[in-house]
Amino acid sequence: MEKMYFDHAATSPVHPEVIEVVYEAMKNHYGNASSIHNFGRDSRRIVDNARIVFAESIGAKPSEIIITSGGTESDNTAIIETALKRQQDGKHIITSVVEHHAVLKPMEYLEKLGFEVTYLPVNEKGQVDPIMVEEALRPDTILVSIMYANNEVGTVMDIAEIGTLIEASESTAYFHTDAVQAYGTEEIDVKRDHIDLLSISGHKINGPKGIGFLYVKETIFLPSFMLGGEQEKKRRAGTENIPAIAGLQKAVEIIQPQRENRKERHRELRKQLIEELTQKEIEFEVNGNTAKQLDHIVSVWFKNVSAEQLLMSLDLRGIAVSSGSACTAGNIDPSHVLIAMYGEKNPIVAETIRISFGLGTTSEQISYLAEQLATISLRLKK
Ligand SMILES: Cc1ncc(COP(=O)(O)O)c(C=O)c1O
Repeated sequence: MEKMYFDHAATSPVHPEVIEVVYEAMKNHYGNASSIHNFGRDSRRIVDNARIVFAESIGAKPSEIIITSGGTESDNTAIIETALKRQQDGKHIITSVVEHHAVLKPMEYLEKLGFEVTYLPVNEKGQVDPIMVEEALRPDTILVSIMYANNEVGTVMDIAEIGTLIEASESTAYFHTDAVQAYGTEEIDVKRDHIDLLSISGHKINGPKGIGFLYVKETIFLPSFMLGGEQEKKRRAGTENIPAIAGLQKAVEIIQPQRENRKERHRELRKQLIEELTQKEIEFEVNGNTAKQLDHIVSVWFKNVSAEQLLMSLDLRGIAVSSGSACTAGNIDPSHVLIAMYGEKNPIVAETIRISFGLGTTSEQISYLAEQLATISLRLKK
């Protein structure tokens, strides 16, 4: 049985060229980048070069990039360090109800410390209204954190508009965006969109796991989230993970020039999947905002079919999809994103699966998936 992977939004396969770079770096570049000898300088060069590539990919300066262990650390650092640093300026933060838990949990933590968090709702397409962000701003607002694109339904937020509104307002709030899912297909430009802090993760773009970066605008200094060494100009303690950094650089170098092509390819695969499901005359609907969408994430509601059962039946046939957010693995709580979009009682919440594709996904695989989805969903239908 051929195994088929449609869970690229949870994590993506590592590109073969990235594996080679990681292996080479692990074998040959083991010096500590903080050491002043030849071995250390060799590793330092790898970090410096990678930083330039990371910065260019989002329109930033190399000095504005802090290399981290991934999306979670970047989000935690941006949110918690901003709050702790700016508490004299105010204790109000704005975010949305559909953020990843790497954003929502730090918010809950800050609430326990006495901060006040405004959780903005979304509409049925999963979109945050930029005007609501503007209206929620207060003189004591120190941070706005709205994700670039949602990991469960793929909705792309109006980040440029939100950034511009905050910039034009009297507010001094920093604007953070979790761009973990968007990076790799969306054209991100932190200066154009007035973004102060931005989180990226390597494993969503065919890079290694446990590596990512945080963009911090040059006028902002955030203290290190972890305490220890003085790496990353005192902004992130811990010995640099050279193989992962080199691997992420390679992943970025591969993906950046292919961004438009990848987008186009994702669009075609998405269209094919929806067309083939339609031909099979099963009852389904696609969730999210089809007009502003990450095309590689297809959140589908199969009416009267339990998502958990559908997922397990597909798994028995070697097909991997996800129900809700697979980032909180093992967690079968209903999706907070679907609840925010449709309400707790709506059957969509328990009857939606997320199909996400990427490197290695073929048109033949999509046809097979559509066939299996049709057969299984008809069988499972209540
Ligand atoms: C939107 C979003 N933010 C943050 C994360 C966490 O990133 P990481 O797994 O690199 O910690 C994920 C997925 O894992 C995500 O989808």
